[in-house]
Amino acid sequence: MDRPVFIKNASQLVTLAGNIKSPRIKAEMSDLQIIDNGGVWLEEGIVQAVGKTSDLHEEYTDRLSQADIIDASGLLVTPGLVDPHTHLVFAGSRETEFNQRLEGATYMDIMNHGGGIYATTEAVKQASHSQLFQESWERLNGFLLQGVTTVEAKSGYGLDWNTERKQLEVAKELHEKHPVDVVSTFMGAHAVPSHFKENPEGFVELIIKEMIPAVAQSKLAEFNDVFCEKGVFTPEQAKKILEAGKKHGLQAKIHADEIEPYEGAELASEIGAISADHLLEASHDGMKKMAAAGVVAVLLPGTAYFLMKRFADARKMINLGVPVALSTDCNPGSSPSVSLPFMMNLACMNMGMSPAEVITAATINAAHAIDRAKEIGSIEVGKKADITIFDVNHFAKLQYFYGVNHTHIVIKKGRIVVRGGKLVE
Ligand code: NIG
Ligand code: FE
Repeated sequence: MDRPVFIKNASQLVTLAGNIKSPRIKAEMSDLQIIDNGGVWLEEGIVQAVGKTSDLHEEYTDRLSQADIIDASGLLVTPGLVDPHTHLVFAGSRETEFNQRLEGATYMDIMNHGGGIYATTEAVKQASHSQLFQESWERLNGFLLQGVTTVEAKSGYGLDWNTERKQLEVAKELHEKHPVDVVSTFMGAHAVPSHFKENPEGFVELIIKEMIPAVAQSKLAEFNDVFCEKGVFTPEQAKKILEAGKKHGLQAKIHADEIEPYEGAELASEIGAISADHLLEASHDGMKKMAAAGVVAVLLPGTAYFLMKRFADARKMINLGVPVALSTDCNPGSSPSVSLPFMMNLACMNMGMSPAEVITAATINAAHAIDRAKEIGSIEVGKKADITIFDVNHFAKLQYFYGVNHTHIVIKKGRIVVRGGKLVE
């Protein structure tokens, strides 16, 4: 049994305590519920008490000698960060495409010529389970070192059931063995394989009739995602695939309005998706519908940055009442990054979000986007003891001193897994 952990004297203890039933919207996104000189008692992997250091000191006086004590004087304590949209499990990299794009080729041009998602699909088909596991394990270490304690991970580099299953099995094994929790999404509808080019409906049928039932039966994923984009899957096809997933108990997610406006936000609202992601080109009407339906907007500023596109209009979404979350979109094509803090800086600089809003977006709202708000995303009694301690004394400094990894200590389920910015072996 691990020793209890007592974090004391935090300069700012950002709890985000409050309503866990629905994601935070509008002004709620700026209300971080900060305790100055805060303390937290963690035991059995769970948060046992949260409050002023002096109060906890009194409450636990008799047990202090049994605990690992972390003096967080001058430091910022937040919930472990949550990344709700990644393509974590892949093999290889695509830096040659990066060069092509810098010389003017577009992301879709490259994909339409057999590169992009197709190139990574080939690499994933060739990779063994253990090779995929190893490469993804290293990336998960990268997430953890930047303060992230839970990530969502999508399949979608198989486009046939055997390879999709291989990706999902790797994600499952990572979840079991790595300190970071991995939540799985099936994304068979990531691209239409070349042998279905003339018959995309045939591939949609294959996903609906064979892959989705197999995903549900194997319990390898909780969510079902589609790349709804001109030249990839139409809104009609996306709707069919997402409805089929719902019938099998898979909640819907959608890559929506990423490259071109395609009424993805509208579709997400209509079918009751848990999140609509990207939304660089989302329409005003689509945003209003998302607000009314309570669909979380998972925004991925790294993708806009790396594809040199205009950023999603987070300010407008928040003003309209859309709950906003942030993510890396970690993948080898449009956002090869494991740094959620970098995304938080980009969101302030390019999407009109405030430092307080981005903290909410990378914690409790991100937890909502993957249906985990009851367990993670805030520091409250009864929740998982997932906590990150940064070496800054104010939450705004996380975004202000950009390009620096401020992660000092990470605690996952009550156990210290990063100390002094390094993985604990
Ligand atoms: O979220 N747009 C589709 N999927 C990913 C990119 C995947 C890739 O290029 O490998 C995205 O941008
Ligand atoms: Fe993505």
